[in-house]
Amino acid sequence: MTTTGSPDDGGKHKEIGVGRSGGSSRVEEPLADVPPAKEMRPPRLGPPEDVEALTSEAAKVLRLNDMGGWTKAAPELYPHQWSWDSAFIAIGLAHLDIRRAARELEMLFAHQWRTGKVPHIVFNQDAPPKSYFPGPEHWACAAASPDAPPAPPYTSCLSQPPVHAIAVLRIWEAASSGSEGEISFARAFLSGIYPGLLSWHRYLLTYRDPEGSGLVTIYHPWGSGTDNSPRWDKPLEALEVGDVGPYPRYDLRHVGSPSQRPTNADYERYLWLMNLIKRAHHCDEPNIYESHPFLVKDVLTSAILVAANEALLEIASLLEAPEEELDLVRDWVDRGRRALEGCWDLELGLSLDYDLRADRPLRVRTVAGFAPLIAGGLSKERLGALLETLDSPAFLGHRGLRWPLPPSTSTDDSRFHPRSYWRGPTWPVFNWLLWWSLVRAGEHERAERLRQTALDQLAVRGFGEYFDPFTGQLLGSANQSWTAAVALDWLVHDPAQENRMAS
Ligand code: SER
Repeated sequence: MTTTGSPDDGGKHKEIGVGRSGGSSRVEEPLADVPPAKEMRPPRLGPPEDVEALTSEAAKVLRLNDMGGWTKAAPELYPHQWSWDSAFIAIGLAHLDIRRAARELEMLFAHQWRTGKVPHIVFNQDAPPKSYFPGPEHWACAAASPDAPPAPPYTSCLSQPPVHAIAVLRIWEAASSGSEGEISFARAFLSGIYPGLLSWHRYLLTYRDPEGSGLVTIYHPWGSGTDNSPRWDKPLEALEVGDVGPYPRYDLRHVGSPSQRPTNADYERYLWLMNLIKRAHHCDEPNIYESHPFLVKDVLTSAILVAANEALLEIASLLEAPEEELDLVRDWVDRGRRALEGCWDLELGLSLDYDLRADRPLRVRTVAGFAPLIAGGLSKERLGALLETLDSPAFLGHRGLRWPLPPSTSTDDSRFHPRSYWRGPTWPVFNWLLWWSLVRAGEHERAERLRQTALDQLAVRGFGEYFDPFTGQLLGSANQSWTAAVALDWLVHDPAQENRMAS
């Protein structure tokens, strides 16, 4: 079993690209020929010793990245606390230590903005110098906005997909099979964090959806969590980017090759948008909405919000929250599902993001298009259509895949790249979302195949951030916290074991 170590594509890349790139296009490595079809091997993870070993390796990764109350997203590449990473991390920690899992989210929510926004990064004040860019001194949100928490540790002023209520419910579920002490701890945790969750979701459905559409607007690709996905190519190409000055690419020190990360041309756009948000709009949401050049309805974030609202509804019921709050959250769920239905593209069999500035859908085939599956509550017809797309050669049915796990961008899309971050690699954390959604949709066999395959990949390759879908090569960071966390959740949710326990 290989669970540690650096990416296996030829040693560390030492160069730190210092922009500007002069508008150069992406740093491309020639695409390897698509390998021939492989026999699907049965999952390797069988004997209990394998399960035990993988569980202990996953727990080791979370310990390695534990900063005492919160967890670094990765040992070097991501030395701070990221919002949706933390939610997934809490899901994994729930199986190791309920109190520590709760703390992870409490630490994040301690930095919630006055508007209800949960920031996408809470910066680690003790991070080594020159380890991550852009850091707190570049964001400087506390100085830019009265809504930001005024004291350090500082935060960014973006947000990420709202997985948190799902994690809170997972902690409750893990606690409810525990001791009386754990149950009463978890109940207190639920009631402590509930107001923060409610105001977070309210923020997303007001400030970030002034139209009342049910869809969340993002104003920076980093806010989607899928930074360089081709979903954002068109709106990014449309930007008139001014001078962002020289900037470091510390991230490139920590990956095997620059092709695994967004390009300098991408970074110029990211930094340009960040400067606008901070300097021109002072992180003020209405201001951003009025004049910011990048404004997109994000179907993946919106679908995760629907699922998170369902979790919030359960939490609210457990806490016997007032009926009007339950009604409000029910309405958010319905509104989100209806809106996602409106984003359906019949020809692609996927949901599409919508560019508010260009007033058109963004026709790209990526895993985000499975958003309605994540939002749930589907008609038989819509579920069937989504599963058909999932099984097609554009995703799981591609015969060259090393493991039948979905590439983040369809192999059929002209912008597919097997090693470039969200442009093709397969992401364990997305596989978890898909698995969890399939279970909720009652697609148990399919979900179980996915769980086994995803664990098989991690048992063989380690807890990578993402993987080349053809070769299975580990890409980005090794020992990525959220990958270890979702592995722990998968390992606990073994139907065979659950059946044994139930009988
Ligand atoms: N994902 C971004 C990064 O790679 C920031 O959220 O730095």
